[in-house]
Amino acid sequence: MDNHNNSQNTNMICPAEAAGMLDNSFRKLIHNPQKILKPYIKAGMTVLDVGCGPGFFSIEIAKMLNGSGKVIATDIQEKMLDKVRKKIKSTNLEQTVELHKSDLENIGVAEKVDFVLVFWMLHEVRNQERFLEELISILKPNGLIFIIEPKFHVTKTEFRKIVDKIKASGLTIVENPKVFISRTIVLSK
Ligand SMILES: C[S@@+](CC[C@H](N)C(=O)[O-])C[C@H]1O[C@@H](n2cnc3c(N)ncnc32)[C@H](O)[C@@H]1O
Repeated sequence: MDNHNNSQNTNMICPAEAAGMLDNSFRKLIHNPQKILKPYIKAGMTVLDVGCGPGFFSIEIAKMLNGSGKVIATDIQEKMLDKVRKKIKSTNLEQTVELHKSDLENIGVAEKVDFVLVFWMLHEVRNQERFLEELISILKPNGLIFIIEPKFHVTKTEFRKIVDKIKASGLTIVENPKVFISRTIVLSK
């Protein structure tokens, strides 16, 4: 997870072997998914958790949807998707979590979504401009994108550049919720 935040960066991808750092009881204390996402997730929604990793957020989003709606959990690493697959296997969350393998250049989700979670992953994306354009095209009118980037990988200036790019695409800034050691923005289409 090296940091070179430009539109064609060469960032390292967080390997599936490091998934334990993203999904553990300590993280639940600093990044409580229910607390962070409660204002945005409503039953019936279609939610995209892009770069879902081991599904730390996808699983909790599925619970919040309470049997109505779905979360599309996407990642470029099949091994990360396998971790999510294992967690939902033979549970009622299997109906709510849809797994999707993206590739480096394409998210590839055809369905329109109400809410996109982009948690600690944008700095790993090679072509951020293209990626953001695709995300915006997937978003329904009035849908929200919540971007959270780690302060230790993304400087204030780098984050500001991302925000400027998205604003130029016509999205409106909604708020900047506080998330531990992170820079954040919620945008509306
Ligand atoms: C640091 S992890 C964060 C995982 C998760 N969002 C979380 O907060 O626990 C970043 C994840 O983004 C994925 N990723 C990187 N580039 C991607 C892309 N272009 N499309 C989809 N997933 C990507 C990586 O494979 C990795 O699983």
